[in-house]
Amino acid sequence: MQREHWGSRIGFILAAAGSAVGLGNIWKFPYLVGAEGGGAFLIVYVAFLIAIGLCVMIAEIALGRRAQANPFGAFGRIGGKGWSVFGFLAVLTAFIILSFYSVVGGWTIAYIVKTLTGGFVGYTGSEFESHFGALVTDAVEPVVYHGAFMAISVLIVIKGITGGIEKASKIMMPLLFVLLALLVVRSLTLPGAMAGVEYFLVPDWSHLNADMVSAALGQAFFTLSLGMGALITYGSYLGKKESIPNAAMWVVGLDLLVAVLAGFLILPAVFAFGMDPAAGPGLTFITLPAIFAELPFGLVIQLSFFLLLFVAAITSAISLLQVVVAFVCEEFNVARKPATIWVGLAIFLFGVPSSLALGVWGDITFFGMNIFDLLGYITDNYFLPLGAIATCLVAGWVSYDSFTDEVTNGGERPFAYLTAWKWMCRVVAPIAIIWVMIHALL
Ligand code: PFF
Repeated sequence: MQREHWGSRIGFILAAAGSAVGLGNIWKFPYLVGAEGGGAFLIVYVAFLIAIGLCVMIAEIALGRRAQANPFGAFGRIGGKGWSVFGFLAVLTAFIILSFYSVVGGWTIAYIVKTLTGGFVGYTGSEFESHFGALVTDAVEPVVYHGAFMAISVLIVIKGITGGIEKASKIMMPLLFVLLALLVVRSLTLPGAMAGVEYFLVPDWSHLNADMVSAALGQAFFTLSLGMGALITYGSYLGKKESIPNAAMWVVGLDLLVAVLAGFLILPAVFAFGMDPAAGPGLTFITLPAIFAELPFGLVIQLSFFLLLFVAAITSAISLLQVVVAFVCEEFNVARKPATIWVGLAIFLFGVPSSLALGVWGDITFFGMNIFDLLGYITDNYFLPLGAIATCLVAGWVSYDSFTDEVTNGGERPFAYLTAWKWMCRVVAPIAIIWVMIHALL
């Protein structure tokens, strides 16, 4: 059967940028920058994003396109049999990450529904706080919304690459930019906003230490959706004529742009209202709604913000779902429709304990962590880096010649930084990633 292809270059770029731009950009990035030294962190982060993230992304897309297969098949075909273990690991990682990512995605739907039905009218800061606590610890409501989030992901992926993922990305990514731009303007025009901009941008080099460097590299990987097969899978549908380095540059650029804009949205608002910028996830679901509620047209602003979060989350979720669906379809010869439905259901069920871990199952812990935190910890610190290292080694050493061929389109489109890219994949990226893994252990 003919493999599906993206309808256009921009379709691929928007879908891949949709995968990259997610909750990681909007809730994690701004407070990470603030907490880790502002502009100092930003400089280190951008250096990693370009030097290492971009290189690994090029390798992942090339691996997928060369093999014309899902990550498991791709590693086996290009690296050789033994390497398929890493492909399987990538598929497993996508499965696990989506199971808890979808729980958080479900919260964004819950907030949209509550805003639309007038449930937040007249809420004060402490009411938002107790609302968030009550929502995530409830045994039923967040599970239902997690199910709704998975159902929407299934409905998109079931329609295929062009008719589902590409079409959804082409509608949602422009919407994301419009919402983001409106919210940034609102936030920057608040009295006292500049203090937030300063916190975000002014470098404080006293933060430059191993913790900061490791956080910057970890964030660069997560935000670019590397190490779990998403770009291998999306790359496998990329037309042979497209330039991989060029497409990857667009994706990295868009991801960085959204992260920086999210910083300009969140930190100025937090400072204008004298709130704590280090509040973490609570910042998104408690602090910001409370701030928006006090502004004129507060509910519209709130609705735009939760819609923004939802769009960011769903375009990432579909890329993870597609990884697993492509694996099941290709390795077990299952048609797309049943594969999508069964995989979606399995991920939903697997995610239920993560949701319950924040409430009724909160006492069940492993190594001192509940299931939600444990899954995040293992995938972030072990699975994801292992997947990325394996890609680098296959690209740089095992099958360098076929990667060179793929990255340059058979020599037709020379890649000016080919040698630099090769040594990044061979030595620099693997060492940097191993260092971060060891650092996480200590
Ligand atoms: N890049 C997404 C984010 O920043 O939220 C998360 C993610 C999506 C990671 C898809 C991995 C992935 F395959």
